[in-house]
This record gives sequence, structure tokens and C-alpha cells, in this order.
Amino acid sequence: MLSDCERAVLIGHAARMLPRAHAPYSRFPVGAAVLAGDDRVFFGCNVENASLGLSLCAERAALAAAVAGGARGVRAVVIVTATPEPATPCGACRQWIAELGSPQTEVICATTCGQQRRHTLAGLLPEAFRL
Ligand code: THU
Repeated sequence: MLSDCERAVLIGHAARMLPRAHAPYSRFPVGAAVLAGDDRVFFGCNVENASLGLSLCAERAALAAAVAGGARGVRAVVIVTATPEPATPCGACRQWIAELGSPQTEVICATTCGQQRRHTLAGLLPEAFRL
């Protein structure tokens, strides 16, 4: 369970990723932050490609950075968008969170205008596939 202060800091980190998004095709920038099991924070933004199916979501970019940084475990994933309502992670990102986090991993969906919704991975992806 995160504190309100931890959540606010993570949302700030994710929001600062928005201008870094490479989203010339959708014009839908997304910023993400991952709080790893060792309490380090990793960042990501969406990175699109002219071959549209190759585009990378912000959450997966942040999760990959956490793995590359040597972190294990995911306490929370934050996604921030500049939309009226918070956006939730796509199905592929939910499966990635299931792989690297746990059913209790907190998923915080926020907007640049201050809206915030909190979920657990179990709520977003019940009975996730695992080998
Ligand atoms: N996107 C994310 O970064 N995360 C999600 O969970 C859903 C979608 C990105 C992918 C694409 O660059 C843009 O949003 C529009 O789909």
C-alpha cells in the first residue's frame, strides 16, 4: 500500500515524461512511472513507429527500464495522460505488469488535470495468464 505522498510524487514523475513521448501518429502522449520492489523509480513514455504495430506503450517502456536497471518486483505503475478522464493500461501492458509485479501491484491512472483512479492489477486483469 502506497501513501498519498508516494502517489503524488509518482504522478509528478510520470507527468514529466509526457513531453518526451514520441507520438506523432496518434498525438496521444502517455507518461509512466514504475515504483520497483526496492523503491527505486523508473520512467517511460510511449514511442511510436511509422510501422504502427511496433509502437511501444509508456508502461512497458518504464517496466523495461526497471528490469534493465536490475530492479525486481513492482509495487506500483503510474500512467498519466492529458485527457479529461484517466486512461487505463492496455491489455498488453496489464500482462507485462502481471509478469513483473503481483496481483497486489497498485496501478494508478491519472490526468494532468488532477483526476486519479486507483486499481490493483488483480482488478484490471483477473486470473492473469502465468506459466
Ligand atoms: N498507449 C500507452 O502508452 N499505454 C497504454 O496503456 C495504452 C496506449 C499509447 C500507445 C500509442 O502510442 C498511443 O497510446 C495511442 O494508442
